[in-house]
Amino acid sequence: MSDPEVTESETGTPGVWDDSRSHNWITLQGPLERMLAPIGEQAIKALAPQKGETFLDVGCGCGHTALALARAVGPDGSVTGVDVSPSMLAAGRSHASDEGLGNLHFVEANAQTHTFEPAQFDGLFSRFGVMFFDDPVAAFTNLGKALKPGGRLAFACWRDRREVEWFEMPIQVANANGVPAPDLPGTGPGAFAFAKPERLHKVLAAAGFTDIDVTPLDLKTGGGDSDEVLSILHIGFVGEHIKQFPDREDGAWDAVRQALEAYQTPDGVFIGTGTWIVTARRTQV
Ligand SMILES: C[S@@+](CC[C@H](N)C(=O)[O-])C[C@H]1O[C@@H](n2cnc3c(N)ncnc32)[C@H](O)[C@@H]1O
Repeated sequence: MSDPEVTESETGTPGVWDDSRSHNWITLQGPLERMLAPIGEQAIKALAPQKGETFLDVGCGCGHTALALARAVGPDGSVTGVDVSPSMLAAGRSHASDEGLGNLHFVEANAQTHTFEPAQFDGLFSRFGVMFFDDPVAAFTNLGKALKPGGRLAFACWRDRREVEWFEMPIQVANANGVPAPDLPGTGPGAFAFAKPERLHKVLAAAGFTDIDVTPLDLKTGGGDSDEVLSILHIGFVGEHIKQFPDREDGAWDAVRQALEAYQTPDGVFIGTGTWIVTARRTQV
């Protein structure tokens, strides 16, 4: 591993994008889009796609941001989505075909090690798909080779868990109801691998990127009802944590449901997110 700062992995994370997690993400695409789309839109804005450009969407999942990029670049441009999950890619292919987007392609591969055609993309993009690499420096070095010299990168990743109300609020409510709070995650592969901006700077610089910018984005997202929020919480790390305490699980979820009443608006339940929007350029060679 070329990153000496890696301290520990989030529990179970390296194998976490298995069939069961992919299945959950496919089933809950609508709710997850309501939670994540506004963040993806800001990351796409930071990428500033132009007609005719070519992009790689890293860890593209069910392809929602890849679809948005494919629309943005138009028929003279093209977008490739790469992901390790065959079932999520199948969902992406189905969306692209429903929309008749002939300029969007999907590749099943580990983005850290896959040999991409060199210097083919104008930009790399990701919405929460770049935090799971065993070796981020190796991964971004590999991805950088697929960029044209001077090509750009834009992605969204989570900040410190304590700054993401979607996660921290239920953790604290569960804690007040007998579920011990989990330790803060380390810098190993997982949702919070890039919580520290200084780490993002170091990793990207070591991987050959320049003009690195890490800007906080705070948005309230959601719009569904409490059941929808609970279904999202159940499939993520909050649910995985709470289920380790089976005798307190029911009480904790009842309390979280009650706490969600404070987040109800006329347009649904909205909760705070805290992300980094990261941009950089491949060093000119
Ligand atoms: C949090 S999900 C985000 C999915 C999608 N970008 C979205 O916003 O809906 C993370 C995605 O990264 C993918 N992933 C994780 N490690 C990967 C790797 N090494 N190479 C390619 N994809 C990876 C997972 O399969 C999953 O689809």
